[in-house]
Amino acid sequence: MKILLLGKGGQVGWELQRSLAPLGELVAVDFDSTELCGDFTNLVGLADTVRAVAPDIIVNAAAHTAVDKAESESELARTINALAPGVLAAEARRSGAWLVHYSTDYVFDGSGNQPWTEDDQSGPLSVYGQTKLEGEQAILASGCKHLIFRTSWVYAARGGNFAKTMLRLAKERDSLSVIDDQIGAPTGADLLADVTAHALRLALQRPEVSGLYHLAAGGETSWHGYASFVVAFARQAGIEIKVGPDAILPVRTSAFPTPATRPKNSRLNTEKLHQTFGLVLPHWQSGVARMLTEIL
Ligand SMILES: NC(=O)c1ccc[n+]([C@@H]2O[C@H](COP(=O)([O-])OP(=O)(O)OC[C@H]3O[C@@H](n4cnc5c(N)ncnc54)[C@H](OP(=O)(O)O)[C@@H]3O)[C@@H](O)[C@H]2O)c1
Repeated sequence: MKILLLGKGGQVGWELQRSLAPLGELVAVDFDSTELCGDFTNLVGLADTVRAVAPDIIVNAAAHTAVDKAESESELARTINALAPGVLAAEARRSGAWLVHYSTDYVFDGSGNQPWTEDDQSGPLSVYGQTKLEGEQAILASGCKHLIFRTSWVYAARGGNFAKTMLRLAKERDSLSVIDDQIGAPTGADLLADVTAHALRLALQRPEVSGLYHLAAGGETSWHGYASFVVAFARQAGIEIKVGPDAILPVRTSAFPTPATRPKNSRLNTEKLHQTFGLVLPHWQSGVARMLTEIL
């Protein structure tokens, strides 16, 4: 079994290097790899890489994830998030390989308060969401065997993340204002990578499970709830925190204007994934607590 992993240096890509390794021979590349092209702005080079490696499974962890920047560089975002996945899908279709790809709750318009299902109408509010949706559509249209996982609020112990920013601010400031009207589930890159490997094992036996799945940690919270959990956990762990327990203030999204509009309802219904693969998605707090234990 040969696996080609693209975007190996990102949050999810890094964890996939670990979780995919036991499945077979893993060839992992990044945008600046020298021997094989992993640059998603080079569509010809990308196709050449797939042909040279001739993988049984292509896993795409690369993306243009700078949500605000995407508003002003839409063509670049479209190339990376839509055209390049389309090239990977065409190559997968040609060779009979599986394609694993990640998408986002940002394909939805954030209305209502029910968890979105895979069949719900999309309605992206941002260039990032629109280009990620186009990426999904290109894969579906290609007819290749695929697993597309839509996820939300991804964090990892490695690199920067929201929890680390909140911890830093909580040590420096007397009070914090954090958005409380966007609801979702913080989801660990490690969980995404592990679920990917488990799902692939089943998919290789049962190609009919090819499809689109929502994949996020259990439970739900707001950014304010997330920040409060992080700061309370750190305080309990003996970290010196300046901000008082009642000084993390809930504010509306409108308090922090950004170029890209974020969906307010980022809840994802993960029942299809659960039913198809028999996998359990742990509560978001358990993954965040684990990440905090690693970084504190
Ligand atoms: N992060 C989230 O909250 C979130 C939420 C929902 C869904 N997702 C999806 O989950 C997947 C993994 O995201 P992630 O959190 O792991 O993102 P990430 O950490 O930003 O990783 C994306 C990777 O793609 C790379 N990349 C950027 N431009 C590239 C190019 N031209 N060619 C090749 N690689 C390029 C990035 O490199 P640089 O870092 O050097 O730019 C980075 O290594 C993506 O499909 C994303 O859309 C993420």
